[in-house]
Amino acid sequence: MFLTRLIYTSTIAPSFSADSIEEILVTARRNNSRNNVTGMLCFNRKYFLQCLEGSRTAVNNTYHNILNDPRHSHIIMLDYKEIVTREYAEWSMGYMPESGFTAGLNLKFSGTPGFNPYEMLGESAQQMMLAMKEIVPSKNKC
Ligand SMILES: Cc1cc2nc3c(=O)[nH]c(=O)nc-3n(C[C@H](O)[C@H](O)[C@H](O)COP(=O)(O)O)c2cc1C
Repeated sequence: MFLTRLIYTSTIAPSFSADSIEEILVTARRNNSRNNVTGMLCFNRKYFLQCLEGSRTAVNNTYHNILNDPRHSHIIMLDYKEIVTREYAEWSMGYMPESGFTAGLNLKFSGTPGFNPYEMLGESAQQMMLAMKEIVPSKNKC
C-alpha cells in the first residue's frame, strides 16, 4: 500500500465557533487512528494548514470528508506526493496553535512575516510544518 502525503490550506467559515477546533481535533484523532492516518494541523484563527499522511486511499477519503466540511472554505491543495516514510508517525493529528506562528518562521518560509499559506509553495509549507513539529506544545503531540 503506497504512502502519500497531502497538504492543503483553507480559511475558517462563518459557521466556525470557539469550540470548533477542539471538536475537529477530537474527530480527526478518532478517525485517523482508525484509518492509520497521521499528520499535523496548524491554525492561526484565520487559516488552516494541514498535512495528512497515510495510504493513498485513506488520505484521499479523509481529504474528501474535509472538503465537504462547512467549518472552512477556499480549500486549496498545496502538495500531494508519494512518500517513503511518514514525518508524523507518532501523531494521529498533532496541533500547532497560533503561538507557533512567529514572524521569523513565516519569513523563513514565505515572502512576508505574516502567516498566509495561500502564498506558499507546497514544499515551503511542508518545511515550515517540519520546523513547527519541533516546537509543538507537548499536550498537542497526539
Ligand atoms: C480544518 C479541518 C481539519 C480536519 N481534519 C480531519 C482529519 O484529519 N481527519 C478526519 O477524519 N476529519 C477531519 N476533519 C473533520 C472532517 O471534515 C469531518 O467532519 C469528519 O471526517 C467526519 O467524521 P465523522 O463522520 O466520524 O463525524 C477536519 C475538519 C476541518 C475543518
